[in-house]
Amino acid sequence: MQLVELKNQYETYLKENEFHGEPESLYEPMNYVMNLGGKRIRPILTVLGYKTSSSNTEYPWDLAHSMEVFHNFTLVHDDIMDEAPSRRGKPTVHIHYSMPTAILAGDNMLILAFNKLLKSNYKNKYEILELFTQTAQQICDGQQLDMDFELKENVSLEDYLKMIELKTAVLLGCCLKTGALAANANTNTQKALYDFGIFSGLAFQIMDDILDTFGNSQNTGKQSGGDILAAKKMILYHLAMHFGNSEQQNRLTELFDKKKTNPETRLSSTMDILNKLDIKSKAEEMMQQYFAKAESTLHSSGIEQVKYDELLMLNEFLKERNS
Ligand code: IPE
Ligand code: IPE
Ligand code: MG
Ligand code: MG
Ligand code: MG
Repeated sequence: MQLVELKNQYETYLKENEFHGEPESLYEPMNYVMNLGGKRIRPILTVLGYKTSSSNTEYPWDLAHSMEVFHNFTLVHDDIMDEAPSRRGKPTVHIHYSMPTAILAGDNMLILAFNKLLKSNYKNKYEILELFTQTAQQICDGQQLDMDFELKENVSLEDYLKMIELKTAVLLGCCLKTGALAANANTNTQKALYDFGIFSGLAFQIMDDILDTFGNSQNTGKQSGGDILAAKKMILYHLAMHFGNSEQQNRLTELFDKKKTNPETRLSSTMDILNKLDIKSKAEEMMQQYFAKAESTLHSSGIEQVKYDELLMLNEFLKERNS
């Protein structure tokens, strides 16, 4: 099966499972963000996790949907925190509707994601719920660290890697392991898939950081340079600090101090340094390394390759993505 076919199946499920409820002013924004598109990698990962260990061709789209609804909740609140004007090429929920609506729509999506898992009926349901609870909490931890790092001067590369593991990678691991649990996979498979999700997730967030600065906003659907404007200490900052000379390091420290530098100066001067040091290709190399780690986790797991071929294909797509 082609990955695009899985995506289409999910889109069909989504259409048939729109949110309904009163007041409409709460449920419409929830549908708004869900219907803006997106790559849908989390539901796809959930189903691919399932497929490693079950030959049932009826896939657990309800579990997959919980993961996508949860992801969209994190995006709605993330855009508030990051003061982001656009998402998937359209105004963010708090801009298009209002701040209170975005807070409540996000809360409600979180609750409904849990509820859907609760109502599902798969093997290992308790473990699935426990994993989801743990993951949701880790994402809150990661998001708070992300915000704290905007204001903190000494953030190490190690701190950054831990932060992106929490805010992004754990959900990819959770999706894969949830699918595996539903298929009653053995613990070796569960663990290999989870670790694959973590390494792919680190690579995925590094790519997200690259695209934020160097991507085309027509493709990403997000404001270009938003991370630098907000003084996010994302991967490009860390690599520039690593490869820059002491003059460049001091300049970057000053640029990423919100009290000392305004956002426009930060953006243009940081871009100069990034380009001089060729940081984009260094970040791409790092991304490739994490994807390679993810793949070697599977190759050394003892799982037959035919069972995870589609995961490798998904990673090939993610390496080349521009949105
Ligand atoms: C964006 O996720 C948020 C991150 C964790 C980096 P995606 O890049 O998967 O966003 P969509 O769902 O495809 O729009
Ligand atoms: C978001 O990271 C991670 C979560 C939503 C949990 P980013 O803030 O980098 O995501 P984008 O770039 O806004 O999609
Ligand atoms: Mg953001
Ligand atoms: Mg963010
Ligand atoms: Mg980002």
